[in-house]
Amino acid sequence: MTSVVILISGRGSNMRSIVDAGLPADIRAVISNRPDAAGLAYARDRGIATEVVDHTAYADRAAFDAALAACIDRHAPALVVLAGFMRILTPGFVEHYRGRMINIHPSLLPAFTGLHTHRRAIEAGCRVAGVTVHFVTGELDGGPIIAQAAVPVLAGDTETTLAARVLVQEHLLYPQVVRWFVDGRLALRDGRAVLRGDAAPDSAALCVPSADV
Ligand code: GRF
Repeated sequence: MTSVVILISGRGSNMRSIVDAGLPADIRAVISNRPDAAGLAYARDRGIATEVVDHTAYADRAAFDAALAACIDRHAPALVVLAGFMRILTPGFVEHYRGRMINIHPSLLPAFTGLHTHRRAIEAGCRVAGVTVHFVTGELDGGPIIAQAAVPVLAGDTETTLAARVLVQEHLLYPQVVRWFVDGRLALRDGRAVLRGDAAPDSAALCVPSADV
């Protein structure tokens, strides 16, 4: 079975969705950079090894990333899953995991990289928002897009209501992408995410508000 390590920083609901999906994967460890990450208890309860590499204990990013990589590599994962892992990674770290590290970002990339994505989408007047899963490269929230899910932005939406609507899709999309990887269907090739058996969407457009209003 394909070995997987999941990195979190907090709540860990995306990690939970992956664990609960019962994928044909060996989830070797959940690693957090914060000792108080709520997700750690959940992983522990499920019998998954947990580790903390506390970024505040290291002098700089390079030292932290070296310690983190050493911790990850002890579990020899084929896939590293960033699930709400809130650290900017050094180029050497990213290169070490090229083609085998994925991230989830709560926006339709390349729009709204970084923080406060939902607030910024509402302020920009977006009618559609969503989530992206991508391979990790040196660019913040960049890297070849693997899959996206879109949701409407509704009148009266707040950051909280929109985040909740997007999160439902995150919990569906991320386990699906991990499944593709562990099934050997997904790879990074020539700078693009390639999915074997990739099916075309069954409708030509996603339109919000719908065209017939
Ligand atoms: C999610 O919205 C994820 O897309 C973003 O940070 C949030 C983490 O939530 N990167 P959780 O820790 O998975 O619950």
